[in-house]
Amino acid sequence: GQNIKQNIVMAENVRAVLPRRNPAAHKGTNGRTLVIAGSRGLSGAAAMAAEGALRAGAGLVTLAAPASLQDILATKLTEVMTKPLSEIDAGGISREAVADMIELAAGCDVLAIGPGIGRSEDTAAAVRETITAVECPLVLDADALYVLAGFTGLLTECAALPVLTPHPGEMARLTGHSIQLVNSDRINITRKAAGEWGSIVVLKGARTVVAFPDGEVYINPTGNAGMATGGTGDVLTGVIAGLIAQGMSSHDAAVAGVYIHGLAGNIAAQSGMVGLTATDLLKAVPAALYGINN
Ligand code: APR
Ligand code: MG
Repeated sequence: GQNIKQNIVMAENVRAVLPRRNPAAHKGTNGRTLVIAGSRGLSGAAAMAAEGALRAGAGLVTLAAPASLQDILATKLTEVMTKPLSEIDAGGISREAVADMIELAAGCDVLAIGPGIGRSEDTAAAVRETITAVECPLVLDADALYVLAGFTGLLTECAALPVLTPHPGEMARLTGHSIQLVNSDRINITRKAAGEWGSIVVLKGARTVVAFPDGEVYINPTGNAGMATGGTGDVLTGVIAGLIAQGMSSHDAAVAGVYIHGLAGNIAAQSGMVGLTATDLLKAVPAALYGINN
């Protein structure tokens, strides 16, 4: 058999790779994150992802979303810049938005795309065109993964190794396996997917697995069942992107982001695990970072 590295992530591993805040930092030195997310009825997913990046320490975060969500998102998110995208009648991103998305990404250090974008065919095509055209590192989640089922060959056309963050249902759809099979062989299935897709694959759920194309695998020990609530995955997407924006490699940001996200969940659960919300999780991310760094 192969001699494959399989690691449990430890706080010291994360501490070793986390960016240190330069005392002379300004917002420009902490990176520009672009989040493309949301559709009518799913503005919360977009908000969670954008805030996740900020809570991970990103300097400037821009949220591009269908134009009809602009006002609600701008009201909800005080610190985030918002950009309206051309949309289809059903309320998702249209193909006409592709040029704008590519242009916005050109001014950013990372693009996170997918939370709440919906699954219409126009949006699907727009996502597939955008992720293969941009130059910056990518974090692909939620409906961006849904629309990649049958198109995983596109992942090798991405400029940098993309980070994919499927939950078991999304992983099942992407691989063609049942959810039951995915959950019964999480490590091997994630490792195989990372190799086949030439991507960093983060299979979420209790003991999240992070796998790399060379077969390297990390198992995450942080997190708790209180995180099984809507929006917590969107926060993870933002956290990983926010770390990449600050200069971390996609490799380190995937492993560290998952660990910090789970640690934030554990901190939030100190005031009650049942009833924890994704907003509580967001607010605990700075304490998780502080705990690792100090
Ligand atoms: N232990 C530890 N962590 C957990 C547990 C658990 N028991 N349960 C969930 N989590 C963590 C996961 O590891 C992951 O980081 O909570 C997060 C849940 O992420 P998602 O499953 O993506 O949930 P959510 O953000 O609500 O997204 C759900 O978005 O993915 C789309 O379309 C999909 O409607 C779905 C929605
Ligand atoms: Mg999700």
